[in-house]
Amino acid sequence: MNRTMLALGVAFCALMSSASQAADTAAGRLAFETCLGCHGEARYVNTYPTYHVPLLAGQHETYLVAALKAYRSGERDHPTMRANAAALSDEDIANISAFLAGLKS
Ligand code: HEC
Repeated sequence: MNRTMLALGVAFCALMSSASQAADTAAGRLAFETCLGCHGEARYVNTYPTYHVPLLAGQHETYLVAALKAYRSGERDHPTMRANAAALSDEDIANISAFLAGLKS
């Protein structure tokens, strides 16, 4: 099976299961791929070459949800993260947070 087919299959399963579950870590992992440029590749933690970003792996799920919603609403005023959170749905936020909370820091 090629990578595109595999990715589609994973995305489809994620879509199906997220309809019935509160949070889906597989969907969260996919949604988090756009964030990896800054939030690190090795175990999904910190440090971008030019500046520091917060550790997200193993962070509390409720904290991550609150932080992402605060960026999205503008309550937390950080231009980069506001731009990144703007496109996330409540479901994306729940899935990403569940995925990150499940990682070992
Ligand atoms: C261009 C770089 C960049 C990208 C891309 C990016 N972030 Fe961030 N992120 C940051 C920086 C810098 C901070 C610290 C902002 C601050 O000081 O409030 C941050 C903060 C956060 C926080 C708050 C952590 C805490 O401890 O309070 C969360 C959660 C987060 N990012 C999640 C994400 C998610 C999810 C994505 C993808 C949808 C993403 N980030 C994409 C740079 C980035």
